[in-house]
Amino acid sequence: MTNEEQSGVAVLVVDDAGERRVRLALGDTVLTTLQDANVAVGSVCGGNMSCGTCHVYIELPGVDCERVRSPEETALLEDSRHFRRDRSRLACQVEVTAALAAARIVVAPDE
Ligand code: FES
Repeated sequence: MTNEEQSGVAVLVVDDAGERRVRLALGDTVLTTLQDANVAVGSVCGGNMSCGTCHVYIELPGVDCERVRSPEETALLEDSRHFRRDRSRLACQVEVTAALAAARIVVAPDE
């Protein structure tokens, strides 16, 4: 692992403030690292997978989010009118890995 990989991965992020590249800490959840970077993403339940307010779209070429979500995560996301089967995730359920360097993370609209 290189020093750059150890310190994090630069990911394209989109929220109400616009699109920018944000460095996310490897091994943490996408939710906590986005919050550390002042990205406007909700977390009413504090990362306990019960509120759905941390809804993001993860756009990663060749990756269908439906294949990696747990049934519980999908059930919570399906309650959202902004649910997109192929790219919706709960940011509190996604670990930051080097693979996210090729991703674009979009904060889903509020309900
Ligand atoms: S923070 Fe509540 S479901 Fe992720």
